[in-house]
Amino acid sequence: MTEKKRMAGRKAVDWVRNGMVLGLGTGSTTYYALERIGELCREGFDLRGIPTSSGTEELARKFGIPLTSLDEVSRIDLAIDGADEVDPQLRLIKGMGGALLREKIVASASKEVIIAVDDSKLVDALGTRSPLPVEVIRFGHRRTKEAIESLGCRAELRGKEAPFVTDTGNYIYDCSFGRIDGPEELEKALNLIPGVVENGLFIGLASKVVIATDKGATVRERRQD
Ligand code: A5P
Repeated sequence: MTEKKRMAGRKAVDWVRNGMVLGLGTGSTTYYALERIGELCREGFDLRGIPTSSGTEELARKFGIPLTSLDEVSRIDLAIDGADEVDPQLRLIKGMGGALLREKIVASASKEVIIAVDDSKLVDALGTRSPLPVEVIRFGHRRTKEAIESLGCRAELRGKEAPFVTDTGNYIYDCSFGRIDGPEELEKALNLIPGVVENGLFIGLASKVVIATDKGATVRERRQD
């Protein structure tokens, strides 16, 4: 598994060009992309990265990637990130690493988004392999949970008695919907609930997905309709 994550993460960096501003995702697959981007920086590439979590910021510093922030740049050329599920239309579930809010802000601001996964993340329908992470503010979170569950899921507070707190200071509910037939509608419905900050459905954001298999890496591109 580690070898496939490494293959996918490093392959995703093939689209990085000198001078780019990069969105730096979060997770164990993105780790290998960061390692490769660090190599490019040492080879003389002039790159700047915008980290999507404190963990990624730490790793980027370790690998020698110069950092900037979203408010200091006029564009992000390319974001590289992982995912928890990828469906045939390259719609995603993300957020099992807890960084979905910043990841979604960065992906939405990027001209191109490349997602790196191993083939275990491919699903026929979203929701069949992973729960859907939903980030909520702490104030009144139990009420927010009830409203989320009224959309047809079982929501579990991440960390339970010792709740996981995101970089932005919020909680995450992992929501088991089972097969999600209308992810576009669900994404909107969740974000209309007061107290919900963001959810892990990434629709229409991935431009390419690099998939590592036992036979090597393949690339799928999203059809731009
Ligand atoms: C982080 O919040 C997530 O969106 C990750 O990108 C996702 O969980 C994939 O992580 P791995 O590459 O560690 O599986």
